[in-house]
Amino acid sequence: MCGIVGYLGYRDAYPVIIKGLKRLEYRGYDSAGIALIQDKVEVHKSIGRVQDLEQSISDKDKSGNIGIGHTRWATHGSPTNDNAHPHVSNSGLITLVHNGIIENYASIKTHLEVYGYKFYSDTDTEVLVNLIEYVYKTAKVSLEEAVRIALKKIVGAYGIVVISNEEPDRMIVARNGSPLVVGLGDKEFFVASDATPIVEYTDNIVYLNDRQMAIIGDEEFTLKTIENEVVLPEIKKIDLDIEKIEKGGYDHFMLKEIFEQVSSIHDTLRGRVAIDGKEITLGGISSVIPQFVKAKRILIIGCGTSWHAGLVGEYMFEEFARIPVEVEYASEFRYRNPVINDDDIVLAISQSGETADTLAAIKMAKEKGATVLGICNVVGSSIPRETDSGVYTHAGPEIGVASTKAFTAQVTVLAMMSLLVGFKKGTLSSELYQELIVDLQSLPEKVKAILDKEEQIKELAKEYKDVSNAIYLGRGYQYPVALEGALKLKEISYIHAEGYPAAEMKHGPIALIDENMPVFFIATQDVYYEKVVSNIREVAARKGHVIALVTEGDNLVSEIAERVIEIPSIHESLAPLLTVIPWQLISYHIAVMRGCNVDMPRNLAKSVTVE
Ligand code: AGP
Repeated sequence: MCGIVGYLGYRDAYPVIIKGLKRLEYRGYDSAGIALIQDKVEVHKSIGRVQDLEQSISDKDKSGNIGIGHTRWATHGSPTNDNAHPHVSNSGLITLVHNGIIENYASIKTHLEVYGYKFYSDTDTEVLVNLIEYVYKTAKVSLEEAVRIALKKIVGAYGIVVISNEEPDRMIVARNGSPLVVGLGDKEFFVASDATPIVEYTDNIVYLNDRQMAIIGDEEFTLKTIENEVVLPEIKKIDLDIEKIEKGGYDHFMLKEIFEQVSSIHDTLRGRVAIDGKEITLGGISSVIPQFVKAKRILIIGCGTSWHAGLVGEYMFEEFARIPVEVEYASEFRYRNPVINDDDIVLAISQSGETADTLAAIKMAKEKGATVLGICNVVGSSIPRETDSGVYTHAGPEIGVASTKAFTAQVTVLAMMSLLVGFKKGTLSSELYQELIVDLQSLPEKVKAILDKEEQIKELAKEYKDVSNAIYLGRGYQYPVALEGALKLKEISYIHAEGYPAAEMKHGPIALIDENMPVFFIATQDVYYEKVVSNIREVAARKGHVIALVTEGDNLVSEIAERVIEIPSIHESLAPLLTVIPWQLISYHIAVMRGCNVDMPRNLAKSVTVE
């Protein structure tokens, strides 16, 4: 999960690359580097953020119309200057940036050392750049051919951009498993890990597929497979506008994205819930509805927040479509040789569409004959291109590392899917189908009603910003929201937090309750309400601090709980889309008050494209 930017054209490459790398820092920010072609390739690197790189070379010559840049999230080797990209081959002939992991780098390194190559970093990337040089020199082939031959010798994932002193007007791009897009301007070309560094210059982009190479130079762009077959590029128009990417007046991307949930849920529903509110249509999966209807099992796979969304989906599909559902961590699923039947539906959930574990799980499920669908947010990313079909969440770019609007968009898609399949199957009555569609359409305004309580929620956050631990409790549909609330708090404020089904407290965790423990309950009106209230009493009796989400008009819980936040009434299956929001806001404000880097929390990256 590193960020790559390349430029070749008539502009100064430096400002294009630096600005682009800043847009990609959500992919990793341990170290950064840039290489510019001047008389020869000049490389500059720095540990830390892109701004640290900028400062370190403020007095250096930064001319050149061709260059490549990289912002890193360490996988092989710790964040040091030597390990920072770009990497240069021993003779200085070849320079490249790389995102991914080369599995067989050690054996290649040993081979190259026999031929006198020296290595100064702990990275797999340095092995690749020297392998390309070795092929270039011994086979006496073009840079393109040297890259092609070298890539055929490696095993693993890569997104690379390669330049050379001997072909200074050329740039070779290649991808297998790590995303790369090429922006096609007017006599200028852009390469990046996603479209955000490109969008202000051109809206014509080409997504590279696995085992594809792009050769850029002489004002030409040629797309080929790694087997040297020319491919007709599919030029897509990106509709990302730059302000969507900027913070839009908010202090952090995360807060902007929490507040965007009014529009992102609306955009996710748009065109899928008929204007007359009579039915749901999901074009992306229309061809597989018959398989869905007769499926004997649904396997939902994902990681982190996407896995939590899958848990909500489990309750939805089992309630409305009466199809057994298993929700699996992708990282476990891909290695445990699971039983997958060819009439299973596998549903992969991923915001980035690039999560390595989820992608690998999908490939395995496909090999075992299952129908694999995706729920993704990034158009054209790897997972949607790997699945048989799927539904995009239309949440717009989610830059904050902590996932917020992607979660509610994923749950919104799961709701539409489960209602549609249940209705087609006849397990969901027409009356309840209509009632739920009306509730779906009421979501944006109800989300806004909760967001309007931000000041109250911020005041509440102040009271708990210095705690060391926290527990989140919910039952039924709200149990996944308890897990999600705990994940939000721990990943951005670094406070230890755990989520449980509320009834689980008596099986151990209640031993943790004392006057130092805040317990965040969801006690909205549903079939579990009375049980949750008694769980609240158990915690309050042991001096735990109870903060509870309740349905508007609840007069009981406020007598027991320390703090209460009211939530608009909605069908219990859709309540997670509302109850998650106060937990997002509380985590955000506590993290800000604790001085944490909310958008780029320590040790984390937005897209985990390595194992
Ligand atoms: C959630 O806030 C985290 N950023 C993380 O758990 C994330 O949900 C997980 O890495 C999965 O990412 P994906 O949805 O892009 O596949």
